[in-house]
Amino acid sequence: MHLLALETSCDETAAAVVTETGDAARPWRVSSNIVASQTAIHRAWGGVVPELASRQHVRDICGVVDAALTDARLTIDDIGGVAVTQGPGLVGSLLVGVSFAKALAWARGLPIVPVHHLAGHIESLTLAHGELPLPAAVLVVSGGHTSLYHVPEPGIYQLIGRTRDDAAGEAYDKVAKLLGLGYPGGPAIDRLAREGRDDAFSFPSARLTHADRNAPAPTAPPGLLPADAARRVDFSFSGLKTAVLRLVRERTGAPPTGRAAATDAAGTELPRQEVADICASFQRVVVAALLDRTFEAAGWLGSRSIGIAGGVSANSRLRADAAARGARHGIPVFVPPIWLSTDNAAMIGAAGFRRLRSSAPAGWEFNAEASLAM
Ligand code: KG4
Ligand code: ZN
Repeated sequence: MHLLALETSCDETAAAVVTETGDAARPWRVSSNIVASQTAIHRAWGGVVPELASRQHVRDICGVVDAALTDARLTIDDIGGVAVTQGPGLVGSLLVGVSFAKALAWARGLPIVPVHHLAGHIESLTLAHGELPLPAAVLVVSGGHTSLYHVPEPGIYQLIGRTRDDAAGEAYDKVAKLLGLGYPGGPAIDRLAREGRDDAFSFPSARLTHADRNAPAPTAPPGLLPADAARRVDFSFSGLKTAVLRLVRERTGAPPTGRAAATDAAGTELPRQEVADICASFQRVVVAALLDRTFEAAGWLGSRSIGIAGGVSANSRLRADAAARGARHGIPVFVPPIWLSTDNAAMIGAAGFRRLRSSAPAGWEFNAEASLAM
């Protein structure tokens, strides 16, 4: 069976055809994968403008779906179901995909499968590598999320840790913006960091370990993690971002409040080497924070593998350090190829198949949800 999948949760209009293989160890393959990126539109604004994003999805979606069918050498008659990202994401953007998917599925008499965006990121790993050794600890790191899941069996995702403030990708994007590196910031920092010294600056890394009178309830379900450790899997990146901001202000002589950028009042830029050193030092702290928690949690949970997915999993240092730690700890680490790391519809097709084969078909009443729990 072929599933047509749609993803419009943020600023990528994406469609894919994913096909069942009949092989239980490697259940799906990508027959086509089309992504129309809106980066060029949003770059001028320094970030995603929701209204511009939804309008562009409306313009692009028919062409993207057509291209996905053509690329797979199929027609709509060959499609057995439609999977679509229900949330979380920008509600106007999600609505374009959900409305399109519902209309198409209804008109063709096909089953419709609403998919959680993060289930898509997690299943990008199965799509790329086949079924992971379970239980697995899977970290989803993207522009909107930094969430750690315990996957005890296929299709079961238990949230055990999350960011208390900024997502890791958001921290990359904000730091890149204040360094004048443009949008999106992750790839730019990744590139420049290779030229910098990662010990040039010591930035703080937040560990949410001590008793806090206002602490929210632990993220993990009771009993899953050791009681004293339960709070330790959460992440925090806003302090790190502020530390970079302060450093840039100090170095450029900018006033301590107000807008800061890597240029001073006279428009003088920070030397390239210094920006590269900041990038490398920032990245070292982010990557260590992500991997420390993930590997610790994997130890507590007896995980047989570790997965890292989402846009930030494209990061070269995160990949290299994760592989090195995995080898040291004797635990296999799985990361999707770059084209499956950032937002795409193939992963939505994979998660769609997972859901289609394990639960009753969805009704028509579901709607796009900006915040959707999983
Ligand atoms: O998964 P994704 O495409 O969209 C969301 O669901 O958010 O992730 C986008 C995020 C952006 O914050 C982007 O800066 C970050 O992934 N990103 C990277 C890299 N490539 C993309 N961050 C660090 N290093 C990279 N190479
Ligand atoms: Zn994503």
